[in-house]
Amino acid sequence: MLSAEWADSALSTLNSSLQVADRLANIELSLIRQINALATPLSTNLGIGEPNLEPDETFREMARHAATTPWHYSANAGTPNLRRLIGEALAPQADPKNEVCVTAGTQEGLYAIFQAYVNPGDEVLVPNPGFLSYATLARMCGATTIPYELDPPSWRLDPSRLRVTKKTKLIIVNSPSNPLGSIVDRAALEQIANLGPLVVSDEVYREIWYDEPPPSIAGMSANAIVVGGMSKSHGMTGLRLGWIIGRAEVMKPIVTAHQYIATCASVFSQALTEAIFEEGEWNASWLERVRAQFRTQREAALRAIEHELHAAIEPPVGAFYAFTPVPSCDTVSFAKSLATDAAVLVIPGVAFGTAGEGFVRISYAAPIDRIGTGIERIGRYLVATNR
Ligand SMILES: Cc1ncc(COP(=O)(O)O)c(C=O)c1O
Repeated sequence: MLSAEWADSALSTLNSSLQVADRLANIELSLIRQINALATPLSTNLGIGEPNLEPDETFREMARHAATTPWHYSANAGTPNLRRLIGEALAPQADPKNEVCVTAGTQEGLYAIFQAYVNPGDEVLVPNPGFLSYATLARMCGATTIPYELDPPSWRLDPSRLRVTKKTKLIIVNSPSNPLGSIVDRAALEQIANLGPLVVSDEVYREIWYDEPPPSIAGMSANAIVVGGMSKSHGMTGLRLGWIIGRAEVMKPIVTAHQYIATCASVFSQALTEAIFEEGEWNASWLERVRAQFRTQREAALRAIEHELHAAIEPPVGAFYAFTPVPSCDTVSFAKSLATDAAVLVIPGVAFGTAGEGFVRISYAAPIDRIGTGIERIGRYLVATNR
């Protein structure tokens, strides 16, 4: 039989080994997850960050064929052919062997970069409002995030607002932006690329634009690192395929980190992505259709926002989000009440930083009727609550 003393000591060892690591302390499920947890079968979900894209027969055939390729590990940085294709398409100046790394999604790419470069005490400049991951990844490395503010209604990035110090290790830019739908113009991007520190440009929404293609930071300076992937442009969110492009010397520690995080990206997803890039004509027409679909959904969202919410916003020029002002100074409670009382999910703006308070992110990656119903429900809720 176990002695009480032994049991006590075992319990205390267990309790101390359950003590979460410092790097994860105070990091909770994101507000996005918390709101999504309030969904019921009757909810209209305008909170999602996933494109509503249906693969066509050619796309499905490419996937069937990709599934017949060998299932062994690839090189850590990805198959040579896929690295070549990514380089050709996105950064012709890059040497695919040493300057392109295929990752398990953009998120893994970001994680590998932070692991490779960010130390406790470093400063990381992040957009506010901006994608939540940047600040969280910085905190996990013990770094301090220094937000740079973007202002409504255009959310234009003014490089003079970036406070670069001796401690600045990384600058993060995201264009087109989640949650703003704005684009960083070429002059601003060039200026930021040459400020001194490494600049990570998250270009995962690069193919989703409405007026003109957004500029890429690729090739703008020796300090520029591009991250991107197939999630948003091809609806491949669950297939986890992304990439990092940067100068060879910069990439070396990133590839080492990536090796210990993921070993390599899924070889099925790599084979499928190779096929997509190789079918250039099909891919160009797919991307045209994707943009046309989101353009139609964007118009529906803007119309409903104007008519039902009486809010006028500058039309988003990229991605599939409308960052919309609402008459509430506590948008977390507002979004939670909308979820429970009006059965519509949107993300409180403050989930993207302090500058997002007073706004909600409405995703129009949803069928037109759902966009209409959801925004109409928000409008009725505002009337019912006298706002
Ligand atoms: C700005 C931004 N970066 C990165 C990601 C992660 O994308 P992936 O699915 O390629 O990891 C997302 C997903 O929502 C995003 O919005």
